[in-house]
Parts: sequence; structure tokens; C-alpha cells
Amino acid sequence: MDPIIRTQGLSKDHRIGRQSFRALDKVSLTVHAGEMVAVMGPSGSGKSTLLHLLGCLDRASSGAYWFRGRNVAGLADQDLARLRGRHIGFVFQSFNLLSRASALENAELPLIYAGLPRRARRTKGQAALERVGLGSRLHHAASTLSGGEQQRVAIARGLVNEPALILADEPTGALDSSNGHDILVLLKALNATGITILIVTHDASVAAHAQRQVRLLDGSVASDRRIARSLEPLAGGAPGA
Ligand SMILES: Nc1ncnc2c1ncn2[C@@H]1O[C@H](COP(=O)(O)OP(=O)(O)OP(=O)(O)O)[C@@H](O)[C@H]1O
Ligand SMILES: [Mg+2]
Repeated sequence: MDPIIRTQGLSKDHRIGRQSFRALDKVSLTVHAGEMVAVMGPSGSGKSTLLHLLGCLDRASSGAYWFRGRNVAGLADQDLARLRGRHIGFVFQSFNLLSRASALENAELPLIYAGLPRRARRTKGQAALERVGLGSRLHHAASTLSGGEQQRVAIARGLVNEPALILADEPTGALDSSNGHDILVLLKALNATGITILIVTHDASVAAHAQRQVRLLDGSVASDRRIARSLEPLAGGAPGA
């Protein structure tokens, strides 16, 4: 089976005026379906840049990226958007919710882009919110939810298209440790159902829950190691299980 992610010499140059700045430098990375990988490294080392490329939100300057065996560079913008919409879920540090829309409307958003009819959107949006433990908050405006709840809505939105891959950029960064812990429990439970997860984190205790830690330094992979998975199961159980 093809790995879900394979990159070869993946690089990204940003233009700043006449200068070009290399944010990602020849990253070769293979991730197999079902892995949970922590991406670490100092600020500015290229973590978000890598996630944007892997999530097909941006295109590489050079190098190759195969998503489930498909060469991403060869895809037209429309096909790239479709691939993203069907297979990839995103979770960001700042939640990026529509504040006046309800939890359900937020969770449904990717399905609107995917062109699903209203009823199917409702059903799937509701199921995703139930999966993250927010079945009782469907119609609450996002702005009225707590930080932890907002991040769970964001995860529901990332889940709603039943992605094979979830890319999470500092998903616990804006949360206190207790809420951050709950989000981690949730991501681990999703990983246990077979979803591949890449999680960017500064926090070693968060990274300790991944099976693998990739460390970036100045845009390159400085280390890539498998670790024994966290010693004990996190309390809290699998949401929706
Ligand atoms: N659009 C852009 N234009 C110019 N430079 C950029 C752009 N995006 C990122 N960079 C630069 O590329 C480098 C890597 O940025 P990136 O956001 O990937 O870092 P990061 O590892 O996610 O950092 P942090 O931990 O602070 O989020 C940084 O030096 C940043 O200033
Ligand atoms: Mg970043």
C-alpha cells in the first residue's frame, strides 16, 4: 500500500521583495496510514509551512509530494481543492470558527464546499459534533462556547468529511492544560479509529503521545524518531465510543 504521505526534497521559498527566503528545505518524509506524528521545532523552523504543503493549502517551490500515491504537483487547483475537501481535515490553534454561526453550521462548513445537500450536511455535522462530545451544543453560537468547546467544534469540522488525514497546528496552544488534555484525548481516539494525525506542538508532553516525533530546524528535518507510545492510556476514554 502507498504511504499516505511521501515527500521527496520538498522545499518552499517565500518571496520577500526581491529576496527569496527558504522556509522549508528539502524535506523528505514518509508517513504511513494510521500513524500519529508530532512535528516539533523552534518558532520559525517551518512547521506550519510543512503542514500547509501537506494539506494542499499551498504548493511547494520544488520537490515532490505524493498523497496516497498521487503526485500533488501534477494536480490542477480544482483537483487539489477536491482532494483537500475529501481527504484532509484541519485544526488550527486559533480555531478559525465563524463566531456568530452555530456549532452545527461551523461543523457543516466543509460539506457546503463539497456540495452536499442540506439534510446530509445536518446529519453528518451532528454526528461529528456528537463524536467530540458536543451533541448538546448544536445550536449554540460559536462565540458563546468555551475555548475547549470551540476547539472541539473545530475538530468536528475537521472530521466531518471523514478525512484520512488530520493536520493539527498547535491545537492545544490556546487552551489551558485541562482543555488541552481533553483535545489530546480526542485526537488519540480519532487516531485509534485509523485516521492519520500530524500534530504540530511545542509541548513535549503533548508530543509524548505520538508514536513518532519529527523535529524541524531551519526548514530541515533535524531528527525523526519513533518513540514508545505514552506510558498509560489517557483518562477520559474514546469520545463517541
Ligand atoms: N508567507 C510568508 N512570507 C514570507 N515568509 C514566510 C511566510 N510564511 C512563513 N514565512 C517564514 O518562514 C519561516 C517558517 O515559518 P513557519 O510559519 O512555517 O514557522 P513555524 O515553525 O510554524 O513557527 P511557529 O512555531 O512560530 O508557528 C519563518 O521564518 C517565517 O517568517
Ligand atoms: Mg507555526
